[in-house]
Amino acid sequence: MTTVAEHYKNHLAPVYLWMAGGFDAAISRGESEVNAVCPNPSNGFTAIDLGAGFGMHSIPLARCGYSVVAIDSSPKLLEVLQDHIESLPIQTVEDDLLAFQKYLNAKAHLILCMGDTLTHLSDAQSVEQLFSLVAESLHPDGMFITTFRDYTSALVGDGRFIPVKSDNDRILTCFLEYSPDYVTVHDVLHERSGSIWQLSVSSYRKLRLSPEWVSSKLQAKGFTVRIEPGLAGMVRVVAKRLKLRSTGPARKAAQSG
Ligand SMILES: C[S@@+](CC[C@H](N)C(=O)[O-])C[C@H]1O[C@@H](n2cnc3c(N)ncnc32)[C@H](O)[C@@H]1O
Repeated sequence: MTTVAEHYKNHLAPVYLWMAGGFDAAISRGESEVNAVCPNPSNGFTAIDLGAGFGMHSIPLARCGYSVVAIDSSPKLLEVLQDHIESLPIQTVEDDLLAFQKYLNAKAHLILCMGDTLTHLSDAQSVEQLFSLVAESLHPDGMFITTFRDYTSALVGDGRFIPVKSDNDRILTCFLEYSPDYVTVHDVLHERSGSIWQLSVSSYRKLRLSPEWVSSKLQAKGFTVRIEPGLAGMVRVVAKRLKLRSTGPARKAAQSG
């Protein structure tokens, strides 16, 4: 078993773009999701992309007018993003996503944690910690959006073998092994080298988070939450600040005046 960072460094990052169907196709999927769910930015709007990878959402967000801080622990994926930034307002940061507040100058208008990144955190307490930091860091009209896979129903038997992607020279298969709180993901990669196939396997843990649990924890931090289908079988949770109605002295004075 490896850490998430080691898994990406040694196994997944080198084939990640291939797995995602290539840069342009992935960015256009990200763009459709950003257009469907992210508010149109006004001047000076900032977005934080937690676990940004190669920029599937950071690039579309910047193209539509957000200034973006893209945080990821994989230098290789950030390098791909960096190579595509051109003049877009994107700051890439190699760090743990739980450290994102270090890179904020003001409250953010949008915070994203997309593409199953949430389940990469080490435990449920870290997810709750992230939600506290998000609640503290968002602008009063801000929004938090996360997409992740719901692993709460365990697959059984042959169903635990997931064919992820294949072509003439490469085959990526996932095997899922369930524990009460985690699913261990074994990424099994076959790569053709001349006339032989080389096998490499790397494993890491993902959290089994239910959409309802995520929603209830966000509601407890003062968000209104909706749950909807996301891309590629993921669930999308959209959390907005709960607008508090003032009942204090200022409002009462205004009413009586
Ligand atoms: C499944 S990928 C999703 C990438 C991107 N959000 C997308 O939708 O394509 C998960 C990303 O999160 C990053 N990651 C996982 N855990 C992290 C952590 N604790 N801090 C920063 N990045 C992390 C990985 O390096 C990887 O780029």
